Amino acid sequence: MPLARATEFIDIRNLPPVDLIFGQSSMMAVAREKLERIADTTVPVLLQGESGTGKDIVAKLLHARSNRSNCPWVKVTCPAIPNSLIESELFGYEKGAFTGAYATKRGRVELAHLGTLFLDEVGSLDVSVQAKLLQVLQDGGFMRVGAQESRRVNTRIVCAANGNLRQQTEDGSFRLDFFYRINAVTIDLAPLRQRAADLPILIDYFLDLHSKAYRLNPKPLSREITSMMQRYNWPGNIRQLGNMIRSYVLIGSEETLVADLAPAAPAGIIPKIDLANPISLKEITKAATRDLEREIILKVLHANGWSRRKTAKWLKISYRSLLYKLQESKVGALPAGR
Ligand SMILES: Nc1ncnc2c1ncn2[C@@H]1O[C@H](COP(=O)(O)OP(=O)(O)OP(=O)(O)O)[C@@H](O)[C@H]1O
Ligand SMILES: [Mg+2]
Repeated sequence: MPLARATEFIDIRNLPPVDLIFGQSSMMAVAREKLERIADTTVPVLLQGESGTGKDIVAKLLHARSNRSNCPWVKVTCPAIPNSLIESELFGYEKGAFTGAYATKRGRVELAHLGTLFLDEVGSLDVSVQAKLLQVLQDGGFMRVGAQESRRVNTRIVCAANGNLRQQTEDGSFRLDFFYRINAVTIDLAPLRQRAADLPILIDYFLDLHSKAYRLNPKPLSREITSMMQRYNWPGNIRQLGNMIRSYVLIGSEETLVADLAPAAPAGIIPKIDLANPISLKEITKAATRDLEREIILKVLHANGWSRRKTAKWLKISYRSLLYKLQESKVGALPAGR
């Protein structure tokens, strides 16, 4: 099976600027401070955050900022390695350990000697492998498959998880002792929806990045799109933002962005209903109608170059009524007078 290159050396110049990685939110300020405090220690670190919040980047930054930065960075994408291969991939094997083991091979743990071992999506590791890694965490000890003697390695272990590991310890799919070992320090990365103040610098960064990569010269994003982005909930976080901006740079029109950013069509979909408490049918349908109207209005506004007058005409409602609906559904960020 072709696996990614085993070891890498991280050049901090290839990472986004540190100020951009952390931005201005208080949650990311805490993350930054923790990272700076512990970069030079060997204490294990657990990076937690939704998909696309920058766990990979922060793990690399942690390595690049540590006194291990000239030594290897070894990443293991845990779910990408089948269970039958994971042990030999992590710990290596001796010649003759199994059919096909024609020569001794060092595993990722050993390759990370003096450097950093990054276990990505650690929650998917089998409990038997967790037990073996626990040993590495305790005293650096491990055994190549088929070996008679144990070896020792000096590596810094950084793990990443986007699920809830504590919950996994309750259902038995994650060992409690391993959990306590890997999260000596936990760094939580904020979802993009909680980093609205950072959106403008992130947008500029990706516009610049992709414009240079594709040698294109896109127009800056309109205020309307930026304000839709501020309200969007970003399930794919910064990765999704980067991808959206790349499409914009390539296609050169905001049309695709509007389609992506408009609230999910509630038509025909029953809104989330809390069955624990009595609900008001009137209020629920009112909210659903408002969401639907908002989506339609945004699309028609965009199609009409954000002209409110044209939009009102198009939707066969009065101009005043459109203004009222815009206000009611908090589409208030359109420039006055348009
Ligand atoms: N703070 C940031 N500044 C700039 N770019 C970022 C930032 N965070 C993430 N990115 C970009 O977003 C993409 C996803 O980031 P990354 O792979 O680090 O996320 P992740 O949390 O590891 O996601 P997953 O859980 O899916 O593995 C990458 O292309 C990365 O360059
Ligand atoms: Mg990742």
